[in-house]
Amino acid sequence: MKSVNIGLLGLGTVGGGTAAVLQDNAAEISRRLGRDIRISAVCDAKAERAAQLCPDAAFVQDPFELVVREDVDVVVELFGGTGITKDVILKAISSGKHIVTANKKLLAEYGNEVFALAAENNVMVQFEAAVAGGIPIIKALREGLAANRIRSIAGIINGTSNFILTEMREKGSAFADVLKEAQALGYAEADPTFDIEGHDAGHKITIMSALAFGMPVDFSACYLEGISKLDSRDIKYAEELGYRIKLLGITRKTDKGIELRVHPTLIPECRLLANVNGVMNAVRVNADMVGETLYYGAGAGALPTASAVVADIIDIARLLDAPSGYRVPYLAFQPDQVQPQTLLPMDEITSSYYLRVCAADKPGTLGQIANLLAKENVSIEALIQKGVIDQSTAEIVILTHSTVEKNIKNAIAAIEALDCVDTPITMIRMESLHD
Ligand code: HSE
Repeated sequence: MKSVNIGLLGLGTVGGGTAAVLQDNAAEISRRLGRDIRISAVCDAKAERAAQLCPDAAFVQDPFELVVREDVDVVVELFGGTGITKDVILKAISSGKHIVTANKKLLAEYGNEVFALAAENNVMVQFEAAVAGGIPIIKALREGLAANRIRSIAGIINGTSNFILTEMREKGSAFADVLKEAQALGYAEADPTFDIEGHDAGHKITIMSALAFGMPVDFSACYLEGISKLDSRDIKYAEELGYRIKLLGITRKTDKGIELRVHPTLIPECRLLANVNGVMNAVRVNADMVGETLYYGAGAGALPTASAVVADIIDIARLLDAPSGYRVPYLAFQPDQVQPQTLLPMDEITSSYYLRVCAADKPGTLGQIANLLAKENVSIEALIQKGVIDQSTAEIVILTHSTVEKNIKNAIAAIEALDCVDTPITMIRMESLHD
C-alpha cells in the first residue's frame, strides 16, 4: 500500500519527538496500520536540525508552500500559537489537506472557524496532543464515552504548574527556581505565563468542555486564575487539614448552565487526583452511565506528546480512503447538534471555600466573622486559629460548605470592611470531586 505522506511544520520539542517516534517505531506502526508513514516535507526555522531529524524529507522554508505540496497528504502542525499559524492551517485545509495539530490555543480560540472550514473542504482535523499530552482523553471523550451524558470534567492539565506545586510542597522550593527547572526540562510553554496563569489549562478545559457538552468552543467564557499568587503557607495549611492544592480545569453541567473554570483548588488528599504529582496530568470524567473514570499520564514532553500526534496520523491514515460518514465528528457531536449553551458567570458557580483571614486577636473577632458569613448564608465546615502572627494578630483558616460564589464574595467584602481584619483575605476554592 502507498505510504502516507506527512508535511511536518515545526521541529521543536514535540516536532522532534514526532520525527523520532515515526523513525524508531516505524516497523510497529506499519504492523498496525498496514502502510508506512513518511515525512515527505518539513518546515522549520533551523535547516540543520531539519536535515538531521528528517534526512529524507524535502526542506521547505515557507510553510504556505509546504501545505499545498502534492506529496503531502496530512499536515502536522507543531508550530503552536495563532497568528501566522492560523493562516497556514486555514490554507492547508482549503487545499484539502488533513490536519493533525497539538495547538490548543488555536483550537480553543478559533476552533469553530477551523472546523467549519474543514467541514466545507471535507478534511479531518485531529488534535489529541492538544490536551493532556500523551493521555488519549480526546479519544475517550469523543469515542469511549459516546454512550454517556457527561456531567463534569476535572483535570490537572498543566504539567508545569503541577510540577511547580509538587516541588513547592515536597521540597519547599521557591516558585521562581522550580519554574526555571520546568523550562529547562521542556515542559513549560515558550511564554511560561501561559502555564502559571492558567491560560494553557484554560485552552485545554475549553476544548474538553465543548467535546463533553456538544457546544462550540468559547475560550472567552473560561475563568482563569493561575498559581503565581499562591502563598506557600496555604499549601502547608491545606496539607495540615488533609487537602492538596492543585491547579484544576473544571467544567460541569448544572441546572443553571455550564461551569468552565481554571483555578487553584483544594482537593481531599484521599482522592486520586490529589496524588498526581510532578509533570504528570490526570483527567477525571464523571458521566451518567459509566460513573467516574480517570485518565492519567504524561501531559508534556517530547515523546509522550508525539505519541498522541502519531496516533492521530494513524487514525487519519486509516480513514483516508473511507467515506466521510465513517469519521468521528470534530466536536464529538454531529455538527448540527453542536449548539451554544449558557455558560455561568463565576458569581453563579457553586463551590466550597478555604479562607485565610488575618485579624485582631481579641474577644469578639471570630463572632463577627461568623456572623457575616451566616448573613450571606455561608455555612462553616471547620474553623481553626492557626496561630498568632505577632502579638496582636491571629491567623484564622475557615473551610465553608458549598455555596454560590457571589455569597462568599459578599461575605468576604463585608469581613474585609471590619476594622479588626487585615486585607486582603485569601480565598481558594475547594472541590470534593463527588459529582
Ligand atoms: N506547557 C504545557 C504543560 C505543555 O506544562 O502542561 C503541554 O501542553
